[in-house]
Amino acid sequence: MSTHNVTIITHPLVQHKLTLMRKKDASTNSFRRLLGELSTLMAYEVTRDMPLQDVEIETPLEKTTGKVIDGKKQVLVSILRAGNGFLDGMLNVIPGARVGHIGLYRDPETLQPVEYYFKMPSEMHERDIIVVDPMLATGNSAAAAVDRLKQLEPRSIKFVCLLAAPEGVQTFQKAHPDVPIFTASIDRELDAHGYILPGLGDAGDRIFGTK
Ligand code: URA
Repeated sequence: MSTHNVTIITHPLVQHKLTLMRKKDASTNSFRRLLGELSTLMAYEVTRDMPLQDVEIETPLEKTTGKVIDGKKQVLVSILRAGNGFLDGMLNVIPGARVGHIGLYRDPETLQPVEYYFKMPSEMHERDIIVVDPMLATGNSAAAAVDRLKQLEPRSIKFVCLLAAPEGVQTFQKAHPDVPIFTASIDRELDAHGYILPGLGDAGDRIFGTK
């Protein structure tokens, strides 16, 4: 596995909150709250290189030049359903962002991801996309989601997850070496059922309390 184009967000607040989320006795309420807080912190890192442009403004004292974010509104794309857990926290930092959703399931016979939902904002070719999914496990869904998004020819795409498995990073990078990955941890491995070890369990179930 190459870690080229992979950013591990090692900020102590991120690592501390991630450890609390991993604990099996974390309640749905605290898991969801921690994911919200982590998403805000991760959004701060992920948007570090957003392009800026100069604008003329007037303070109460004089005219000056300030900087504002350049270009069309960013798009957060949630891979359903666990990706939705990232949205509120990220929207705290980039409140003007648009939101798209993509739903994929794995065909039981071909084992390939099949799209069942796809709804994006307009003018995607002028936008920067941040794809969110808490778990980069096999990497198949994430790679398929980015395949589909690339058809819209956006200005850029980044992928953000909480945890990644080395297998998922490898699969994703093979398909999309140009798309940077941001994560709080690369864990040890996948188990036989496709769960990340040591991981945090089923992210969707833990966010929505559906276990
Ligand atoms: N999806 C999850 O929610 N958890 C894993 O460990 C792997 C995939």
